[in-house]
Amino acid sequence: MAASVSHLCLYVLGVVMVGSVARCDFIESHFGAYMPGDIVIGIVGSVHSKVQNLENRTSPGLYTCTDFDQIPFVASLVVFHTIEEINNLSFLPGIKLGYLMCDACVYGTKALDCVERMLAINGPPTLLPDYSNFTSPIKALLGERYSELSIPIAKLLSLYMIPQISCTSTAPALSDKLRYASFFRVVPSDLYQTKALAKLMSHYSWNWIGVVTLDDDYGRAVLENFVQDAQNEHVCLHYQKILPNYLGSADIQERIINVADQIESSNATVVLLILRPELVQMIFQEMIKRNLSRVWISSDAWSTARFLMKMKDINKVGDIFGFTFITGDIPGFADYVQNIRPSPGARNDFITEYKQMRSNCTQGQQSQNPFFSYCNNTDDSFLLQTVDLTEAYGQRVAVYAIVHAIKKFLKCDDTSCSKDTNFLPWKLISILRNMKFTVDDQTYYFNKNGDFENGYDLIMWKKNGDERILDVVGQYLISNNSINVYEQKVSWFNNTHNYIVKDWILTNVHLSLQIKVPESRCSKKCPKGTHKHILNITCCHTCIKCAAGEYSDQEDQASCTKCLNGTSNADSTKCVEWKDCEGTYVAKAQLLAEELQADVSSGEPDLVTWIVERCIVAEDIRLNLLTSDCPLQMDVH
Ligand SMILES: *[C@@H]1O[C@H](CO)[C@@H](O)[C@H](O)[C@H]1NC(C)=O
Ligand SMILES: *[C@@H]1O[C@H](CO)[C@@H](O)[C@H](O)[C@H]1NC(C)=O
Ligand SMILES: *[C@@H]1O[C@H](CO)[C@@H](O)[C@H](O)[C@H]1NC(C)=O
Ligand SMILES: *[C@@H]1O[C@H](CO)[C@@H](O)[C@H](O)[C@H]1NC(C)=O
Ligand SMILES: *[C@@H]1O[C@H](CO)[C@@H](O)[C@H](O)[C@H]1NC(C)=O
Ligand SMILES: *[C@@H]1O[C@H](CO)[C@@H](O)[C@H](O)[C@H]1NC(C)=O
Ligand SMILES: *[C@@H]1O[C@H](CO)[C@@H](O)[C@H](O)[C@H]1NC(C)=O
Ligand SMILES: *[C@@H]1O[C@H](CO)[C@@H](O)[C@H](O)[C@H]1NC(C)=O
Ligand SMILES: *[C@@H]1O[C@H](CO)[C@@H](O)[C@H](O)[C@H]1NC(C)=O
Ligand SMILES: *[C@@H]1O[C@H](CO)[C@@H](O)[C@H](O)[C@H]1NC(C)=O
Ligand SMILES: *[C@@H]1O[C@H](CO)[C@@H](O)[C@H](O)[C@H]1NC(C)=O
Repeated sequence: MAASVSHLCLYVLGVVMVGSVARCDFIESHFGAYMPGDIVIGIVGSVHSKVQNLENRTSPGLYTCTDFDQIPFVASLVVFHTIEEINNLSFLPGIKLGYLMCDACVYGTKALDCVERMLAINGPPTLLPDYSNFTSPIKALLGERYSELSIPIAKLLSLYMIPQISCTSTAPALSDKLRYASFFRVVPSDLYQTKALAKLMSHYSWNWIGVVTLDDDYGRAVLENFVQDAQNEHVCLHYQKILPNYLGSADIQERIINVADQIESSNATVVLLILRPELVQMIFQEMIKRNLSRVWISSDAWSTARFLMKMKDINKVGDIFGFTFITGDIPGFADYVQNIRPSPGARNDFITEYKQMRSNCTQGQQSQNPFFSYCNNTDDSFLLQTVDLTEAYGQRVAVYAIVHAIKKFLKCDDTSCSKDTNFLPWKLISILRNMKFTVDDQTYYFNKNGDFENGYDLIMWKKNGDERILDVVGQYLISNNSINVYEQKVSWFNNTHNYIVKDWILTNVHLSLQIKVPESRCSKKCPKGTHKHILNITCCHTCIKCAAGEYSDQEDQASCTKCLNGTSNADSTKCVEWKDCEGTYVAKAQLLAEELQADVSSGEPDLVTWIVERCIVAEDIRLNLLTSDCPLQMDVH
């Protein structure tokens, strides 16, 4: 049972031993990266984003992957780096952690192939009465990026109860532990993202917005959730436009122009784009051509797309907001990325391919791949400039989740671990479910569905020269469905800030920032002294003056409030309160009030009742309800 991956592959890396070469060739051809270790973690990640010739595939031959994608590549680097760090720190004393990575190329069937091959690395699993004694060569699996792939993997691994942790798969279905028993993720379910989007809009009183979505399962599901959440936040959709997912569509340019026409003609200045980054780029190009700016809100699919941040004239499109999952700085990672190399004793085809591609690049071969449009940058900071490193932080958290569980299971103290490293992977499941763990001083845990329940960071794309950079400007917390915007960090494109010195004698230093936030409303806010008359669409209204005897002291009121202890003129923001009168006036007041009753329009019975009950000098009311020039005492509130 001792034959783990580690021992087999050391042969290839060190002395080439005749007997084991066949096995390791097999490993090499299917696994893009591996590092031997006492405990091996599997990684399924799609460094390539396309499988060739799927259209006319009829035989179960090998898959050929193309389209190297930097974002998942960097995500895999974070995993390698973290495992290296864990080994360096002797986090599991006396135990070396290894990895085995397979590229699923964003194809579900290939993802299953990856997992099967990982499980079979020491020879195919023999048929057991059940799997409770099955010691898999990999003790946990990291991946996949897309829910489309995580779902079949989760179904397969739930058979063996091998823990799987994903960093980005957000499909709500994966919360269901009856269907995906061994699946965990360090991100919340997508259910919460649309809530966060709607909260952001309501935070800024943007109640009249446009939405452009993708015509696929993901886009439709997100839109459906969003419509519901928007309704709960009293946000109305002026329009919904749909664009095809497939970039090769013949009429794509026409569709983009049609969407741009809609955006241009609408008075909704806030536009939510639930699209892939390539389509956003096309819309932005059209906006720039037309010299139009809007407030854009991004779905997670493009909220961190570097090539968009660097597109030409990006600063002309207006403000851009979005949400991201947990982000963070990975200690030492920026240095690592500038000097990428396989971990000592590891083999890594992805790094080799990347280096070759970069060297091809510098020889002037521009790539069609949008991620490589800045190909001609020759120094090693290339990845730093094209990929947002903080975005891959979740990978680090996921690796630490696994090793914390292992550490707990193996009962490690500072110097040694007391159990055998060839343990049964399912033993980790109950530990993961009930564990709180700390990474870089932050505490995390999985909820009963195996999800993180923390929330999202609100980000803004800020101007940085001719480009944009990300900045975290707030937070959405799932636990109390609330958004916390760090207003002083938000900087609007179309705004002049007014600094107002306030309380300055008291505190001497208290500066307050008055910020003019862009508006996106169907109708202007109703001023004080009026109330809304809602039209057919709940967000659209006209404003109606408050009647005499009523007031509204805040903007945008649904109705005016009656003056209880006083009265008012029409269009009032406050009431005039009458205090007790001198006794001598009482009789007369009552008399005149009765007289007045005839004069006051039938719409004001309360006012009249009030007059009868209290003492009022009717003549004064007749002259002017609001004068204080009368024998009575009045208080203005
Ligand atoms: C598959 O079909 C495409 C066109 O649909 C064609 O260009 C390609 O040559 C075909 N590949 C094979 C292996 O037949
Ligand atoms: C681990 O230690 C090695 C050798 O000291 C060093 O080269 C490497 O950079 C370290 N890696 C990390 C991630 O700390
Ligand atoms: C698992 O192994 C233990 C100890 O070797 C044995 O007692 C038990 O019967 C095995 N269970 C199954 C289902 O094979
Ligand atoms: C675009 O708009 C800006 C400000 O709204 C204006 O200064 C500029 O002249 C416009 N450019 C064109 C080409 O219309
Ligand atoms: C920018 O400000 C100008 C002047 O205040 C206004 O006309 C324009 O609509 C604003 N643009 C956006 C996108 O808010
Ligand atoms: C680099 O260029 C060579 C020669 O054009 C080509 O064979 C190779 O596939 C390229 N490598 C990558 C990773 O693009
Ligand atoms: C590199 O690419 C940028 C953007 O495409 C371009 O502006 C610049 O001129 C290129 N530099 C070289 C040396 O080709
Ligand atoms: C939301 O929760 C956080 C921490 O859990 C707390 O600090 C904050 O006050 C809560 N906000 C509301 C509105 O309850
Ligand atoms: C915005 O457009 C809607 C519908 O076209 C219209 O009802 C509304 O009055 C407009 N609002 C403003 C402020 O122009
Ligand atoms: C609003 O509703 C009324 C009656 O229900 C209808 O006659 C009118 O056409 C509607 N107006 C709009 C703009 O939808
Ligand atoms: C009305 O006035 C009385 C006496 O001044 C006071 O006790 C009461 O709270 C007032 N009611 C309201 C609704 O302001």
